[in-house]
Amino acid sequence: MKERPRVITIDGPAGSGKTTVARMLARHLGYGLLESGTLYRALTWLLVTQDPEALSGGDPSRMLRSIQEHLPRFSFELGSEGLRISFGSRRLQEELRLPEVERRVSAVAAIPEVRNLVNDILKRLAGKGPVVAEGRDMGSVVFPEAPYKFFLSASPEVRARRRYLEWRAKGISVSEEEVLRDIKARDERDSSRSTAPLSIPEGARVIDTSQLSPQEVLRVILRELFSSHP
Ligand code: C5P
Repeated sequence: MKERPRVITIDGPAGSGKTTVARMLARHLGYGLLESGTLYRALTWLLVTQDPEALSGGDPSRMLRSIQEHLPRFSFELGSEGLRISFGSRRLQEELRLPEVERRVSAVAAIPEVRNLVNDILKRLAGKGPVVAEGRDMGSVVFPEAPYKFFLSASPEVRARRRYLEWRAKGISVSEEEVLRDIKARDERDSSRSTAPLSIPEGARVIDTSQLSPQEVLRVILRELFSSHP
C-alpha cells in the first residue's frame, strides 16, 4: 500500500463474513466502517414500523413516498465500529437484525430510487474520512474507483449456519433450515434484481471464506493491501 486509500470495498452475500471482517479491517486501519446493508435495513425497519401496508402491498412508489417522508428523522454517524443510526431520539441496533426486517429488506433494496438515496448518503459519509465500505455493490456501483476491492463468498450452508448461530446467541428462535431457506431466497432476489445486482466487481480479489476464520480472511486482505501497489 503506497498511500492510504480513501476507500476499500468488501462485497459479498449474506453470511459471507464481510461485516465481521470489514469491522476488523476498519479497526486495524483506523478507518470508518460504512455498512451499506444497515442503511437498507434501517429504511426497511422504518416501513415495518411506520407503514406496514406499504410493504405488504408491495407498491414501490408508496414505499418510496413513505421513506422520503420519514427520512429527515434519521441521523447517521460514522465510526470504526460501524454506522450509528438514530430515528428521532431512538438509536437503532438489534431491531435492524430482526427476521421481519431480514425478510423484507431485499424488496426495499430492489427499488432503484431507494438505492440512489442510499448511495448519496454513503458517498456523503465517505467524504468525511477514509472508509471500509461493505455491502453488495460497493466496488461495482458506489465506489468503482476504489483501488482495493474484495469479494467474499461461502457456500449457502456455511452462511446459513453462521447466521443461525448468531441468532441463537441472541436468543432468537429459528430453525437452521428456515435460515437456509431465507438466505437462498435473499441471494436469489439480490442477484436477479435489475438494478445493481449482487455481482463480483471488476478488479475485485475473490476470497472463499468457507474454510477460513475471520482472522484468516483479515490476514489475506492485509497481505494484499501491503504487498501490492495499485
Ligand atoms: O449486508 P446486510 O445483510 O446487512 O444487507 C441487508 C440487505 O440489504 C441485503 O440482503 C440486500 O438486499 C441489501 N443490500 C443491498 N446493497 C448493498 C447492501 C445491502 O442491496 N450494498
